[in-house]
Amino acid sequence: MLIALTGTPGTGKSSVALRLQARGWNVLEVNDLAKKHGLLRSKDPARDSYDLDLDELQAALGEEGFGEGVLVGHLSHLLDVDMVIVLRCHPDVLAKRLEGRKWARVKVRENALAESLDIILAEAADTGVPVFEIDTTDMLAPDAERAVLDILDGEKEKYAMGNIDWSEEALRWS
Ligand SMILES: Nc1ncnc2c1ncn2[C@@H]1O[C@H](COP(=O)(O)OP(=O)(O)O)[C@@H](O)[C@H]1O
Ligand SMILES: [Mg+2]
Repeated sequence: MLIALTGTPGTGKSSVALRLQARGWNVLEVNDLAKKHGLLRSKDPARDSYDLDLDELQAALGEEGFGEGVLVGHLSHLLDVDMVIVLRCHPDVLAKRLEGRKWARVKVRENALAESLDIILAEAADTGVPVFEIDTTDMLAPDAERAVLDILDGEKEKYAMGNIDWSEEALRWS
């Protein structure tokens, strides 16, 4: 099974992924895949981020012969995966985490807004594969890792999508 571990930047994807990797899981960051295959070409200067072509990413994944494991990144749910796990974080807490990474104010706002509007969850729901979401707001990385393991052990109710609603926060970030 190929699992996408996705979420707005700052939700803790890479932290959880490192822990899963330490357990022996097959883990690949989409950014590393893109870098390795020379796909980080067109940087959007206004947004300080790369425009990645999904078809090229999918082809690169095929060339890797990655097989089973976890694909990590805020675009991973747009690749051909069997299950999506979305890490979530309350916009206020997310903003603090991103400020902690010295992100520019405009990018902090943009991502807090995206999180309050469920952007990634909505994209994931559109894929048609099973989607789960984990609220990491009051979690440390080991707790989020445990939640991922619980989902794979069959805990479906607790992490079913649709339990999180931060839409009231959107106004403050727009
Ligand atoms: N569950 C968590 N609780 C609090 N802080 C976290 C948690 N997970 C990650 N962080 C912190 O938030 C920041 C972003 O984490 P990271 O794993 O890089 O997120 P992502 O890969 O989703 O962008 C880092 O500074 C990290 O130490
Ligand atoms: Mg990351």
